[in-house]
Amino acid sequence: MPEIQLSLDGMPLPARPGQTVGAALTDAGISAWRTTRNEGRPRGLFCGIGICFDCLLVVDGVPNQRACLTPVRDGMTLDTGCAPGGPETPTQGGGAA
Ligand code: FES
Repeated sequence: MPEIQLSLDGMPLPARPGQTVGAALTDAGISAWRTTRNEGRPRGLFCGIGICFDCLLVVDGVPNQRACLTPVRDGMTLDTGCAPGGPETPTQGGGAA
């Protein structure tokens, strides 16, 4: 299936048509893309069905979108609120969900 391109905090992120944003992030090895407000604990996909709101991020400038429910679209921009290389860079690999 042909890839489409999203951007995550300004960096390219490949995805496949029909995926959710959460699936595209997981495929890229990103397991957490935000942190909890009080304790800074990593969060990403947890329930995967739109219930827990752990997977929030900014999609095309609209805040608080659930990655697990949002279908990808070519050219979509995703913002975690933490720039690459910053103190809250999204976690790759075995981070907590
Ligand atoms: S993973 Fe629970 S709402 Fe998205």
